[in-house]
Amino acid sequence: MKPSLDALLPDADRIAADLRELERFVQPDAPGWSREVFSDPYRAERDWVAGRMRAAHLETNIDAAGNVIGRLVGTQPGPPLVTGSHTDTVHGGGRFDGVVGVLGAIEAARRLRETGTRLNHDLLIIDFLGEEANAFGASCIGSRAISGLLETVHLSRKDPTGMTLGDTMKNFGTDPNGALALARRPGSMHAYVELHIEQGPMLEERGTSIGVVTAIAGIERLLATFTGRADHAGTRPMSQRQDALVAAAEAVLTVERVGCGAPVHGVTTTGRLETSPGAYNVIPDYARIWAEMRSVDVSWLTGAKQRLAEQIAAAAAERGVHTMIEWLNDQSPVHTTRSVQDTIGLAADALGIPWVPMPSGAGHDAAHMAHLGPMGMIFIPSSDGRSHCPEEWTDLEHIVTGIHTLAVTLVKLDQMETVQTDSVQSVPRS
Ligand code: GLV
Ligand code: MN
Ligand code: MN
Repeated sequence: MKPSLDALLPDADRIAADLRELERFVQPDAPGWSREVFSDPYRAERDWVAGRMRAAHLETNIDAAGNVIGRLVGTQPGPPLVTGSHTDTVHGGGRFDGVVGVLGAIEAARRLRETGTRLNHDLLIIDFLGEEANAFGASCIGSRAISGLLETVHLSRKDPTGMTLGDTMKNFGTDPNGALALARRPGSMHAYVELHIEQGPMLEERGTSIGVVTAIAGIERLLATFTGRADHAGTRPMSQRQDALVAAAEAVLTVERVGCGAPVHGVTTTGRLETSPGAYNVIPDYARIWAEMRSVDVSWLTGAKQRLAEQIAAAAAERGVHTMIEWLNDQSPVHTTRSVQDTIGLAADALGIPWVPMPSGAGHDAAHMAHLGPMGMIFIPSSDGRSHCPEEWTDLEHIVTGIHTLAVTLVKLDQMETVQTDSVQSVPRS
C-alpha cells in the first residue's frame, strides 16, 4: 500500500508515556538519571524495551552481544533497513540521550503497522548494548560487535577493580565469544538511520527543528601520568620543587588551549584528574589526567595530538617532572552517506519541517554501523544544549517531529532499490 506520509505522525501521548515509564529505571545510589551499562536497572529496563517491541508486534530477540533487536518483517527478502540507538547513560546522565532513538524507532514501527504501510525490506530496530564510554574504555560495545569492530583486545580490557570486559559481559548474561562472531558483512545492510538528540546548542540557537548530520567526530583519548618528587610542603623552596600536580594542572590548560585553536570543528576536554598522596602538607609526587580530543577533521586531530603530547611533556620537564603519555583511539571521524543525508532532507521537506546540515561532536552507534552500509543521522534540539547531565531535556514536540521525520525517511529509503554509497568522502564544512 502506498503510504501517506502525514499519516505516519507519531502518537505524542504514547511516546510521552513510554519516556515516562523508561525513566523509572535508574540506579538509586547514583546522581541524575543514571542507568549505566551492566547495572541492574539497565538489565531491567532492557527487558522492558524488549516487551515494548513485542507489544509493537516486532519479532524480538537478544543477540550474543546483548543487543535487543526487534524485526518488522518486510515483503521481500534482502538486506534489512536498520535503525536504533542506546538506552544506557553516563554516570549522572539524562533521560533523552539514546532513549529517543530507541523509543522513537519503536513508535515509527507502530505507526507503519497501524497505517498499513508495508516495507519491502525487513526493518531492524536495535537497542545497542553499552554505547557510552565505560570503565573499560570501550564504548559502543553492541554496535562494534555487529559491525565487526569488537576485538579480543576490547574483551581483555580491565576496569579499575581488575575485572575484564569479557567477564563482566558474561556476568551480565551475554556471550562475549559469540559477540565476536556476530560481525555482519559490509554491504549486508540496506541503510542505517539513527534519531538522536543534538546534545549541543546549535539547533535551538538557529530555531531549526531537524539537523541532518554530515559527519561524526573522531575521538582520541589521552592518559597522561606525571611523576615528580614528594617533599615537605613547608620546607622545600618554591624553586626546588618537582610538583606532579602543578605539571598536570598546566597540562589541563594546554589541553584547553589546543582545543581553542581548532580551525573548523575541534574540542578538547580534561574529564578527570587524580593525584597523590593528597595531603595539605606534602608536595604531590604523582598525578594523572584523563583527556580527550574530538573533531570531524582527521588532519587537525592528527597534528593536534602530536602538538599536545609535545607541549605537555616539555612543560612538565621544565619542572623536573617526568611524563608518560598513552593514547586510546575511540573512533576515527566518520562521514554520513550523502544519499542518506539527501533522503532525510527530502523527508523533512515533504513534511514542511525546516532542517540544517551539521556535524556531530558526540559519538554514536551510527559511526560503527557505517561499516556495514549507507548511514545517516537525524538530530533534534536539546534545550539549552545540555546533555550528559540530569538537566538534559528535549521538548515533546521536537521528539514527535524527529520520529515523524525518521518514519518518512525509512519509507523513502525502503523504496530505493539500493541506497548509493559515497565514492569520494569530503570533509564537511557546515
Ligand atoms: C557519547 O555520548 C559520547 O559522545 O561520548
Ligand atoms: Mn547517545
Ligand atoms: Mn551519550
